[in-house]
Amino acid sequence: MAAALDIPIVPTAQSKLKGLSLENLPFGKHFTDHMLEADFVDGKWASAIIRPYTSLTLAPSVAALHYGQAIFEGIKAYKDQQSKPYTFRPHDNFERFNASAERMQMPTVPVELFMHGMMQLVKLDQDWIPAYTDHSLYIRPFMFSTDEMIGVRPSDTYKFMIILSPTGPYYSAPMRIWVEEKYVRAVSGGVGYAKAAGNYGGAMYATAQAKLKGYDQVLWTDPYEHKYVQECGTMNVFFIIGNKAITPGLEEGTILGGVTRMSVMTLLQEMGLTVEERKLGMDEVLAAHKAGELREVFGTGTAATISLIKELCYKEHSLQFDINKWEVAPGIKDKLAAIREGRIADTHGWMVPVV
Ligand code: COI
Repeated sequence: MAAALDIPIVPTAQSKLKGLSLENLPFGKHFTDHMLEADFVDGKWASAIIRPYTSLTLAPSVAALHYGQAIFEGIKAYKDQQSKPYTFRPHDNFERFNASAERMQMPTVPVELFMHGMMQLVKLDQDWIPAYTDHSLYIRPFMFSTDEMIGVRPSDTYKFMIILSPTGPYYSAPMRIWVEEKYVRAVSGGVGYAKAAGNYGGAMYATAQAKLKGYDQVLWTDPYEHKYVQECGTMNVFFIIGNKAITPGLEEGTILGGVTRMSVMTLLQEMGLTVEERKLGMDEVLAAHKAGELREVFGTGTAATISLIKELCYKEHSLQFDINKWEVAPGIKDKLAAIREGRIADTHGWMVPVV
């Protein structure tokens, strides 16, 4: 890590943790005692501070509220068997954050502010890391434009923040998925690969429509033929067909390069599966299902970790799966949890201690 930068800390007078159980908390509803805040002014990052978690005062003309120059990340912190705090592959999220910043014409954040600031904050609030299986402290770095102006141009000023949220599992039950053929999430040349706030806002209408039909999430398809799969809800998606694990490739810029996705690809290879990152059409999925070769379908993400898909609805087809017979996704999920919770050795160097 780059030279440590000591960010001043204003501690809270009273922790909110007393009397709060950290077990089975819903995702993203509780926040820890402190937050990190820094401002980009006159071409540089300044005034970084860690202070009690509180509301912000913003002018109604703040540019981010109008034109959506806003990006974020999701990282998780865990405790090992000796109660030592660790974060999972934070450098990968740091790099993706800055790739998102560049795509959205925003300034990049220096490694010492992002990484060291995050470590200082997690260390301060480490008592908030839940020590239960499938639980973690979700770290949410984000940045938004702060110029007070409603002219359409990149802002000159920005705010970078990190907040922390103790959480249980995100999608707790296996999911029923609607394969979306009308609305799209991403096109080649667009911002699909960036963790831009608008990607999530733009997905909400189609997701709500799928929910009205009784499904949990949508499986996004390509914008031209509505045939090639992209992402599933807020997750990357994997199909196990025979001895192959297939996930859409990143080359078109329509897929978020998930850190969990990368980790799962490594673990699948270690399980002896052939991993293919490539275009996967729904015709191939249907044919594999008909031939009895489509073994498992699951989503991966930081918030969701591994989420099993028990049904895919595509045109007039309903593909149903008996998830009780599955071995791959549950095996990967258990292994990832065991690495994260320090129950087995981290042979990949994914766990970065909070220092
Ligand atoms: C994540 O997995 O970290 C996500 O970004 C999904 C989400 C909760 C928006």
